[in-house]
Amino acid sequence: MSDYDRKLFDRIAVDYGAKDRRAANRLARRLRLEQTLKAARIGDAGDLLEVGCGAGFTARYLAGRYRRYLGVDHSAELVAIAMAENGSPTARFSARAAQTLPQDARFDTIVMIGVLHHVDDDAGLLRHLAGLLRPGGWLLANEPQSANPLIQLSRHVRKRVDAAYSVEQRYYTAGELAGLWRQTGLADVKVVPQGLFSTPFAEVLLPDLAPVGWAASLACAFDRGLEATIPRLLKPLSWNLIAAGRKAG
Ligand SMILES: C[S@@+](CC[C@H](N)C(=O)[O-])C[C@H]1O[C@@H](n2cnc3c(N)ncnc32)[C@H](O)[C@@H]1O
Repeated sequence: MSDYDRKLFDRIAVDYGAKDRRAANRLARRLRLEQTLKAARIGDAGDLLEVGCGAGFTARYLAGRYRRYLGVDHSAELVAIAMAENGSPTARFSARAAQTLPQDARFDTIVMIGVLHHVDDDAGLLRHLAGLLRPGGWLLANEPQSANPLIQLSRHVRKRVDAAYSVEQRYYTAGELAGLWRQTGLADVKVVPQGLFSTPFAEVLLPDLAPVGWAASLACAFDRGLEATIPRLLKPLSWNLIAAGRKAG
């Protein structure tokens, strides 16, 4: 991650954390996380590492579904919010780059939501993380994809008008993500679509008004249905892709 992006996340940390405190945003953000784990049929995540944990709400959303949770993030400001709001005896946070995690640490599940596309050396980070997995452990990421031209246009406009939106991020194709996961030596690699109607509710800070909450519920229900029934049709349309791969053994 560049110095520009790290400073950006420090600067926007308070607003960023607020997204998980608003009902409509929270619904879509929880869905994004839950669908990511579901792609690998993970019920109990065991020892769970989250890279780019932001304000750390994953620890709260998945409470009861892990033995221990460690959230790491480059942004010290976001980690301070995470510790204050989401720390617990089983959920810890650390302000550091994931690349500096010691090689002898071991996890059953590693998850990243919207992180890899901010990282300069994505293949290097994936190699490092794969080395931290126990045999049979899963490496999962939810990343923006470039397939839908209308979505790409809206991102292009947002880069121009929203000072809180990183201009440095890139967008993957399904083939690129599958290639990265395979190159890392992981098995059972899959790439599935996520989010058509719900993603804007996850990304943009929304007012806490009942109608906005109803719209978010509807969007999440539609997406849950579409992702379960017509993943192939959804693949060239969705905002995001989930990439998943398992360490052999
Ligand atoms: C778009 S935000 C996503 C945050 C959170 N996962 C979410 O969904 O709200 C990307 C996050 O990744 C963090 N990040 C980027 N590269 C990182 C790295 N190499 N190690 C740790 N954190 C990183 C940034 O500081 C930022 O908080």
